[in-house]
Amino acid sequence: MSGRIRAFISLILFLPVLMVVGCGASPQPPAEQPKPAEPAKPVVDVSKQMHEQLARVTVMQEAVIRGDMEAAVEPARWIADHQETEGLPAGTAQFVTDLKKSAAVVAEAKDLKNAATATAMIVSYCGACHAAAKIAVAMPEIAKPAAATPAAAHMLEHQWATDLMYQGLAMPSEERWQNGLNAMKGSPLSDKDLPKDTKLTKEVLELEKRVHELAAKAQKATDVGTKVAIYGDYLAGCAGCHSLHGKVWGPGLPK
Ligand code: HEC
Ligand code: HEC
Repeated sequence: MSGRIRAFISLILFLPVLMVVGCGASPQPPAEQPKPAEPAKPVVDVSKQMHEQLARVTVMQEAVIRGDMEAAVEPARWIADHQETEGLPAGTAQFVTDLKKSAAVVAEAKDLKNAATATAMIVSYCGACHAAAKIAVAMPEIAKPAAATPAAAHMLEHQWATDLMYQGLAMPSEERWQNGLNAMKGSPLSDKDLPKDTKLTKEVLELEKRVHELAAKAQKATDVGTKVAIYGDYLAGCAGCHSLHGKVWGPGLPK
């Protein structure tokens, strides 16, 4: 593809973003005429736009945690088909390519485990790129949640732990990763605490124990590969139970 065509495609792709940003930032109306040639965008702008698009990763991960494969496809497919790589910091384009490949795996996944593993890999590419670009990424600290019923409270703690582990991989930060694992220290829920549901067989209930065990096992992991494998297993554990009612149980649902 020639540079000009690529610049044109990037203009089309980013136009809605530019318009939104333009409206927020200045009272002037956006220019009416299409610009004939785009000057190269600064690295920071390109990175900003990329990150706005990567917000879809959160939607995708929530769908995977719910075991709601249908809802994961749309954001995953979008990421697989859209990220610009031109103009990113030197030597980081490969991470976007890898990230897109994993997004395509999620979009096409036939089972929860594959989708969960590919999601974990995507999150690790966030951290790998930041490390390669030598950027110290700050992410807001997440407060421990509270909920009315024991099951909901326990689940919000699972989500809290997941978010911290996510940050641990994506920033990357060993401290957040360990905080996430520590957040899983409590004992697993028993069938008494969970809803009465005929689909909640003994086998599915085992998944609750398993996610706790995985978190304990992960404390000894030092390399990214092992962490990604464990995080993937862990997400698959959440998904395996929630998928019984993928549009009812789990994160990212309208309240
Ligand atoms: C190709 C490299 C690359 C990938 C992949 C990448 N980032 Fe970044 N990230 C950057 C760069 C460069 C910056 C610093 C420039 C900036 O502020 O936009 C940054 C900054 C950030 C920041 C701080 C931004 C701010 O406004 O303070 C956050 C948060 C972040 N990234 C999250 C993520 C997450 C989450 C992912 C994965 C879903 C991800 N990044 C994937 C390169 C990358
Ligand atoms: C054995 C089954 C099971 C496992 C394993 C499981 N969940 Fe859940 N989850 C549920 C049930 C049941 C609900 C609905 C609880 C309710 O509303 O009372 C739920 C609800 C949730 C909610 C919504 C809570 C709310 O009130 O908004 C979140 C978030 C959540 N789970 C996260 C997770 C995460 C993250 C994991 C994996 C670490 C996980 N869950 C593992 C059964 C499970």
